[in-house]
Amino acid sequence: MSTPRFTFVLFGATGDLAMRKILPALYSAHLGNSLQSDGSILCVSNQDIGPTAFKETVSEQLPAWAAPGRHTSEGAASFLNRIDYVKLDATRENQYAELASRLPQDGRVKVFYLATAPSLFEPICRNLAAHVELADARVVLEKPLGNDLLSSRTINDAVACVFSENQIYRIDHYLGKESVQNLLALRFGNSLFEPLWRREAISHIQLTIAEELGVERRGEFYDATGALRDMVQNHLLQLLCMVAMEPPTSLNADAVRDEKLRVLRALKPLTANDLERNVVRGQYTAGAVRGKAVPGYQEEACIASGSHTETFIALHAEINNWRWAGVPFFLRTGKRLQQRMAEIVITFKPVPYPILPLPAGLAGEVSNRLVIRLQPEESIKLHCLAKQPGDGMKLQPVVLDLALDKAFGERREDAYERLLLDAIRGNLALFVRRDEQEAAWHWVEPILEMCRSTPFAPKFYTAGTWGPAASSALLSRAGFAWHEER
Ligand code: BG6
Repeated sequence: MSTPRFTFVLFGATGDLAMRKILPALYSAHLGNSLQSDGSILCVSNQDIGPTAFKETVSEQLPAWAAPGRHTSEGAASFLNRIDYVKLDATRENQYAELASRLPQDGRVKVFYLATAPSLFEPICRNLAAHVELADARVVLEKPLGNDLLSSRTINDAVACVFSENQIYRIDHYLGKESVQNLLALRFGNSLFEPLWRREAISHIQLTIAEELGVERRGEFYDATGALRDMVQNHLLQLLCMVAMEPPTSLNADAVRDEKLRVLRALKPLTANDLERNVVRGQYTAGAVRGKAVPGYQEEACIASGSHTETFIALHAEINNWRWAGVPFFLRTGKRLQQRMAEIVITFKPVPYPILPLPAGLAGEVSNRLVIRLQPEESIKLHCLAKQPGDGMKLQPVVLDLALDKAFGERREDAYERLLLDAIRGNLALFVRRDEQEAAWHWVEPILEMCRSTPFAPKFYTAGTWGPAASSALLSRAGFAWHEER
């Protein structure tokens, strides 16, 4: 399906995000014929380079960041025909007249993507409003949207002075992942799971987003941010919502977002006492990932010496509602872990009374698991027990294994590609609403407070492991273990 006619205005066009994610995603959409043929991309930044030099940079960068196997020089050449460049100091109102004059006045959709520091969101919106007709425009905001509840409110207030909520597209790229949407299909397209999807049947749930990468070239940003703000407040809590929400009445954007909001609001508040027991922060030291030696966090570029920023965090959360009361949700994310993967593990309660002998050393729960792998490959595995062939009744763990990548051989859109197409098409369902975002900040606020205090300095873990030992202890205290430790 193609988009309507559009002009896509990309602020921060010379930055890392634009080069590595946004332009390659638009390129991919272009190659897939998903962009309307005369849709144009106006790139904006304060760098004093002309359109020709800018396009040269894009054409140099595209091969490295385009989806594997998709890049061709003809494809790139036709994509570059859509692009124009304008130099603009985002804080200077008088420079916006030039920008406005480049926007066609033919009723096409205008999408403003702000891939800039959040401190520029307010001046960009204000200055746009002074020069451009914005009644039908959309603005796409990239995370981080603030670094706590107060600062996110300040940003949201400033943007709201110019754009109404249904013109604001807050990106959480996890929502654009095919595998994350597949969670909705699994839960709400099949009647099989719903009766089991509740406290009566489920013992606990684990959500993990593990990365092999370190902080790369983002040391300065990351050291001021940490894993809680970078991954938990947004991606992990959004995943939690997808797992825990009630069935929405439709896939309408607000129907889905209302249900996610209910989950966020039902999260049991963390008190000072809970924090010590229920939150583990870690920071990697030098080690090896996939056999390759890597430096410790504090040796990375632009990290303050003695930094207390966490590169790993594990939490025990609970949801105070009838469906989930008392079910532990263990959330975990970290950099420089053993393996890159995102996974949801749902462990069902053991049988009420065992009449069949379990294999030695195997707890009933291990075989009672639904493991939804979101990346790198997408799969759904049901771990259960079967009878070993032969005499007697010996049970053995087996796995029902569905590899979704194989089941659907076709190309799957990258998360950014899908989200950008949705923004151009005006579909808000996969974007985060203000109240959701603020509810998520509200819940993490006590943890942020804890992070500021020295006694809770992160515990060290060696790069290439699964995080600090305290992370395993967080589960073992409740009688569980992380999936890979079973
Ligand atoms: C981003 C974080 O939002 O998500 C990065 O800022 C992180 O630190 C990235 O590496 C992970 O995304 P993905 O899609 O690679 O799992």
